[in-house]
Amino acid sequence: MGKPVVFVTRAVHASILQRLGAVCEVRAWTEKGRCPADVLAKEIQDADVVVGTDHWDDALMARAPRLRHIALTSVGFDMVDLEAANRRNILVTNTAGSLTDTVADLVFALMLAVGRRVCEMDRWLRAGQWREVAMTPMGRDLHHATLGILGFGRIGVAVAERARGFQMPVLYHDVIRRTDLEQEYGYRFVEKDALFGESDYVTIHTTLTENNRRLVGAAELGLMKPAAFLINTSRGPVVDEQALIAALKRGQIAGAALDVFEQEPVDMANPLLTMENVVLLPHVGSATEATRRAMVELAADNALAVCQGQPPLTPVNPEVLPRLRPQ
Ligand code: DGY
Repeated sequence: MGKPVVFVTRAVHASILQRLGAVCEVRAWTEKGRCPADVLAKEIQDADVVVGTDHWDDALMARAPRLRHIALTSVGFDMVDLEAANRRNILVTNTAGSLTDTVADLVFALMLAVGRRVCEMDRWLRAGQWREVAMTPMGRDLHHATLGILGFGRIGVAVAERARGFQMPVLYHDVIRRTDLEQEYGYRFVEKDALFGESDYVTIHTTLTENNRRLVGAAELGLMKPAAFLINTSRGPVVDEQALIAALKRGQIAGAALDVFEQEPVDMANPLLTMENVVLLPHVGSATEATRRAMVELAADNALAVCQGQPPLTPVNPEVLPRLRPQ
């Protein structure tokens, strides 16, 4: 029997291709940027495994009759139609755990940036506004402010760990209670409405599913304090962006810091781009060299494990494992 065919849909380090090549027949998109749809559609025709983060709907899976494993190079898996993958017995793995600290760090960069008006002050200085020290606009403290964490998985917990260094009381809301951490660190579980009502900073760390699309809308924003900030590094569609824009325009909340948007890349006509009290980043939560490398290494480890008949390290839909077509 021939080696399993692996198609890698993004440029990766040569050593990763070599590792895969020891076990698999490797094909790869080596140019910068996303693998074009026509190339992807052609390459998946006889691929057993695809490594990369691409949009997989049922129609695309139908063009890949041999496909048994999508090894995502991201922790988020909202770009894959999981129901279709399950029906077609295709295993999906993600990179859970590899970017936790990097994203949690960025949450603090964003909270400080929006609360202390870092980007705004940078623009202010460059525009020649710094004439008298007394005129400098004032920010808000992060230390001792109440932090509300919506979604208390790996990243949410890592954010809470950092918050202890800033002496921030931590509230969280999730479907899973972490009474162990509540007892050890004094984190307080609250209902979603209380989280929005009591926090000075609300940070979102939920995965995007059909159930939590627009989980944060006008009602939740309406509960927030006028001096509070919203931070989103999870997925854009978790927040109702029009409701957020309206809340910011009305001064219902003090500001927002966003790494993710309903539409990415963001539309340059998006009103958020004109707002001073908003910090915007181009979905770079995991974008450090070390972390991006670790994410691809983990995707390769998953591909190698499955090709060698071993259990995957970070499966998203482990329920398909008993039905996985043998190599
Ligand atoms: C992820 O891995 O899901 C992050 O959003 C980075 O793309």
